[in-house]
Amino acid sequence: MKYRQLGHSSVEISAVTFGAWAIGGWMWGPQDDQDSLGALAEAVRCGMTTIDTAAVYGFGHSETIVARLLERVGRSEVQVLTKFGLRWDTPDGRNPWQTQDAKGNVRTIVHNGRKKSVLWECEQSLRRLGTDHIDLYQYHWRDPETDVEETMEALDKLKDQGKIRAAGVSNMSAADMEAASRVTQLASAQPPYSMLRRDIEADVLPWCREHNVGVVVYSPLERGLLTGKVTMDREFPQSDHRASRPLFQKDKRRKVLAFLDRLRPIADGHKATVAQLVIRWTIQQPGITAALVGARNAQQVRENAAAADLELTGDEMSEIDQRVQEINEELQ
Ligand SMILES: NC(=O)c1ccc[n+]([C@@H]2O[C@H](COP(=O)([O-])OP(=O)(O)OC[C@H]3O[C@@H](n4cnc5c(N)ncnc54)[C@H](OP(=O)(O)O)[C@@H]3O)[C@@H](O)[C@H]2O)c1
Repeated sequence: MKYRQLGHSSVEISAVTFGAWAIGGWMWGPQDDQDSLGALAEAVRCGMTTIDTAAVYGFGHSETIVARLLERVGRSEVQVLTKFGLRWDTPDGRNPWQTQDAKGNVRTIVHNGRKKSVLWECEQSLRRLGTDHIDLYQYHWRDPETDVEETMEALDKLKDQGKIRAAGVSNMSAADMEAASRVTQLASAQPPYSMLRRDIEADVLPWCREHNVGVVVYSPLERGLLTGKVTMDREFPQSDHRASRPLFQKDKRRKVLAFLDRLRPIADGHKATVAQLVIRWTIQQPGITAALVGARNAQQVRENAAAADLELTGDEMSEIDQRVQEINEELQ
């Protein structure tokens, strides 16, 4: 495993970080807690010592599962990244939307970036995680009616109190990050990024590189599609959000699988899997600090963690880039 510094902060994270959304059991179909615990323990064993979760993942459930890992391996062995700003326990917020929890109950989620709400949410996450500090606390999605400066004041206060070691944002434009960083030092941004989704290269990534802000990218495997293991016959239950994602529809899926077949000889040359090639390509992009990779069991974790140590030559990277450009043109 490789470890990288998060911007100007003192937080060091694993270049392949464990994404703990699916293990919250929300929006990914059924998930077994024992599998989740096995996956987390295996992550730490493989050196994937950084875990990215969020309060809203499973309405607190993902954080409570992470707490069980911390109990098992010791708090100091793990870097805990979590997020705030999406509330399900109050109607006080903006842009409400409805979803279902693991039991099929309807939940309403609102965006809330008010200072008071952020301070309250942090206490809840600390309690669920069973810890006295969070290594990186990230603003999940912007509340459109709260000035970003107000939210950042809360993060600054939490840093002063020692409750969080570093402040980050997610899904945020370069302009909003510019405003945010006038109030507090940003350690990182968390945008989506994959071979099939490269829009951050236009503005977010250059801004972060210029300001030494770490970039921890999410969904690098395009939610499993880029592993090659989502074959044409795989069906998703309605409780799995991938059932309705455009890239998972059969016409697009067929094209993506053919693209992965074209990458496979390069992976084979390293005795690696396509998923490992995709993860390695992601963390080798200039300015990318880490890839947040979701996993649902120990086997997936082992495969994903090993990607950090795969070495791709300049020629191989150029060939992959060429293929990536072709598939993006094909999918348009
Ligand atoms: N800030 C945000 O708004 C935001 C949004 C999305 C994600 N995230 C973060 O980023 C993390 C990663 O993103 P993601 O979970 O959306 O997508 P991802 O990492 O692209 O894909 C994860 C999924 O791919 C499948 N998978 C993983 N490794 C595999 C392997 N080796 N072989 C076969 N299948 C494998 C698993 O699903 P199956 O086994 O069911 O196919 C897994 O749940 C999240 O967990 C979360 O921490 C943040």
